[in-house]
Amino acid sequence: MTRNLQALAGALAFYCLVAPQQPARADEPAKITIDAARPGATINRNIFGQFAEHLGRGVYEGIWVGPDSPIPNTRGIRNDVVAALKALKVPNVRWPGGCFADEYHWRNGIGPRDKRPATLNPNWGGVIEPNTFGTHEFMDFVQQIGADAYLSINVGSGTAAEGADWMEYLTTPQPSALGKERAANGHPEPYPVAMLGIGNESWGCGGSMTPDYYVSQLKIHARYARNYNTKQKMQRIAVGPDGGHTEYTQAVMEAWKNKTWAWDIEGISLHFYTVVKWPPAFKATGFGEDEYATLLRDTLRMDDLLRTHLSIMDKYDPEKKIAMVVDEWGAWLAATPGSPEGFLEQQNSQRDALIAALNINTFARHADRVRGANIAQMVNVLQAMIFTDKEKMLLTPTYHVFRMYVPFQGATVLPVTVSAAEYQHGEIKLPRVDAIAARDASGKTWLAVSNLDPGRTTQVSLDVAGTTVRRAKGETLTAPRVDSVNTFDAPATVAPKPFQAQASGGSLKLTLPPSSVTVVSLD
Ligand code: AHR
Repeated sequence: MTRNLQALAGALAFYCLVAPQQPARADEPAKITIDAARPGATINRNIFGQFAEHLGRGVYEGIWVGPDSPIPNTRGIRNDVVAALKALKVPNVRWPGGCFADEYHWRNGIGPRDKRPATLNPNWGGVIEPNTFGTHEFMDFVQQIGADAYLSINVGSGTAAEGADWMEYLTTPQPSALGKERAANGHPEPYPVAMLGIGNESWGCGGSMTPDYYVSQLKIHARYARNYNTKQKMQRIAVGPDGGHTEYTQAVMEAWKNKTWAWDIEGISLHFYTVVKWPPAFKATGFGEDEYATLLRDTLRMDDLLRTHLSIMDKYDPEKKIAMVVDEWGAWLAATPGSPEGFLEQQNSQRDALIAALNINTFARHADRVRGANIAQMVNVLQAMIFTDKEKMLLTPTYHVFRMYVPFQGATVLPVTVSAAEYQHGEIKLPRVDAIAARDASGKTWLAVSNLDPGRTTQVSLDVAGTTVRRAKGETLTAPRVDSVNTFDAPATVAPKPFQAQASGGSLKLTLPPSSVTVVSLD
């Protein structure tokens, strides 16, 4: 299928999922019904994972400034970024790449920092990689923000022995040579590694491997990259599909189904960017409704892609033992004019907030199998949470979405029926309203609802089947324009505002601003 046909099929499949049986007319208010009596799967908090690659200013400056920096830091890691990320309750951080991971040699990043070699980063601008941020610095960083470590081992240009040694160095409690070396480098206790990627994009920058060749590598690396830390279970994540291509899904799942005792995996990854076409050309600022609607349509393809891959997984693994981990997703736009080549710097607008919300909603709808996802990327790169400019720090619209969605981490999905007219722009037709609901551990019900229509406020009447809802209270993220952004001069152009609605006459109505993301608790 061509990319355009896939896009159309994706949009149609998504529409059918949320479409009412008798579609409401465009001038009718929308209706949302939550079925609290039929709880579904748990939303694994790992779907709110982040990705920090050695790329541009993502790690250096974005996270690491060094202990001697005038920028306030703890052991070299900037305090402002740590505080902002803590508020997101980041479940895990994927590191060191990305394409970088398949050229990373971990030994360059341990030991005294002034003795570490300067190497090259050929994927991303060809800059010098100082290796001052290595294994210990990364583990310190994730511990400071309270996240798990998701490491990617080098399958493309590394050896199985190198991956095995890195894991032994990190996780053994024994006084082996590598365990002693870790202790001598300042960390006697074994580190916890919660997730391990066996390569990255092995179909592309990770070695252009055929599916069969990758599977042979996977078996070797999955066997020898052992976790010796019994206090931390580790999931091994195989490289999986590139967007809609199913060859890797098929090959990895078939191999897993026929596996022997000697190797195993716990997950498979999908990479899919909201980009429309390569090279990325959609503008991050100064765009209009054409670009807005086109990118939202592209992002809604995620549902169709997941359905395609999950049906293959179901064939080999009906018990859903293997997790789908969408460990690279997000908007990939034209680079900020004047930014260094290969640094993938782009602004982040209200449209991108919608893109984040729609993806998270999609993952939550497939929560029984999609048990991890990592937005690309965390700081200063692609659809970032945070921008830094030397000592200054800025929160993006996407950051606000992740913060507003925190109550959904670990909550139980509640089925939602949305009855709403379409939002139409030219030939593009999209659902006007997209929503998920969940119940948290304290029993509170949460609703996240996006109004995709940039030109119209949408009135939603809300029902929770079998209960009377008196009040909705939370926050809404909206902006003067779909391309509104936050800048260092105007950091709060796009910022959440309190949102409240009171039932009257037995019904609760929510007034959703144009192109907005709203998260409320219900009581
Ligand atoms: O996130 C940027 C790059 O996109 C990653 O390094 C690579 O895995 C993907 O192609």
